[in-house]
Amino acid sequence: MKATAKANANIALVKYWGKKNKELNIPQNDSISVTLDKLNTTTTVEFHSRYKEDIFILNDKVQDKETTKKISHHLNIIRQKAKIKEKAKVQSINNFPSSSGLASSASAFAALSIAASKAAGINLDSRELSIIARKGSGSACRSIHGGFVEWKTEENNDNSSFSKQILSTESWQQFRVIVVIVSEKEKTISSRSGMEQTVATSPMYSGWLKTIKNDLAQMRQAIKEKNFSLVGKIAEANCLKMHSTMLTTSPPIIYWLPQTIKIIQSIMQWRKENLESYFTIDAGPQVKILCLENNVTELKKRLNKLQVAQKIIVCKPGKEALIIK
Ligand code: PMV
Repeated sequence: MKATAKANANIALVKYWGKKNKELNIPQNDSISVTLDKLNTTTTVEFHSRYKEDIFILNDKVQDKETTKKISHHLNIIRQKAKIKEKAKVQSINNFPSSSGLASSASAFAALSIAASKAAGINLDSRELSIIARKGSGSACRSIHGGFVEWKTEENNDNSSFSKQILSTESWQQFRVIVVIVSEKEKTISSRSGMEQTVATSPMYSGWLKTIKNDLAQMRQAIKEKNFSLVGKIAEANCLKMHSTMLTTSPPIIYWLPQTIKIIQSIMQWRKENLESYFTIDAGPQVKILCLENNVTELKKRLNKLQVAQKIIVCKPGKEALIIK
């Protein structure tokens, strides 16, 4: 009763920020993402009667009770489905910094859902897996698939909120996301509590929701047509709208650092000089730059000159989450 799975992180091009149902992680709005090939989590789950309680080891460190509780809660969903009682040892490795706005929870819960269901002996399709992954972390449901992915909620219930691929990994091989890590410190406000405070207090929140339908329709079309400029423009504007709801939360949520702003302003300046790229940022200070393959070298050169990046990772559209052992 042991299995290992690998899942990639994803970055939202049309974001979700806020829930309709906190227990089930049903979002206020649909979202679209691209799965990233270079940021991943590898997780091994073993259910065995010799374990008296669940153990969670992340990057070779045994995790405290609080963190392990979240994993146990997720394992319970699978234990219930598989009708098993055994406790588990879960070992995860992230190949990038955790909890710093790099969607580590997305790859983590996607890998955990797949490895645990396989180890528990149940066969689930990608729809069922995305429903389970969603309950660990909303964005995790999108990491079940590769390429470009949409997370839709048809009705406000558990089985109607899942992800689907809208363009395959192989279809747009020139698309790049340059992940610029400006700080590896853990963020102080989790996305879970941040979005809850935003929904409750930001006067901009209803305005954000009103614009989403249009962003989704345009983004879906732009991805299908592989219209890079349009994808970039919508993603950047959508990111700024989401951050405007964060900034106007009470108390304010500001995930950006001076380095973040420096990159944003540089990208806008470089566009004027005909170097086309767009930025997007999640619940953290890191900047993800959307561009095409032919501009990667020049962008990296200019980013290095800014001297704000601790690490630069160039990603392509990545593959779906998979069992590897
Ligand atoms: O997956 P969660 O529930 O931790 O929230 C992620 C929220 C954002 O990354 C900011 C946006 C998104 O759609 O991924």
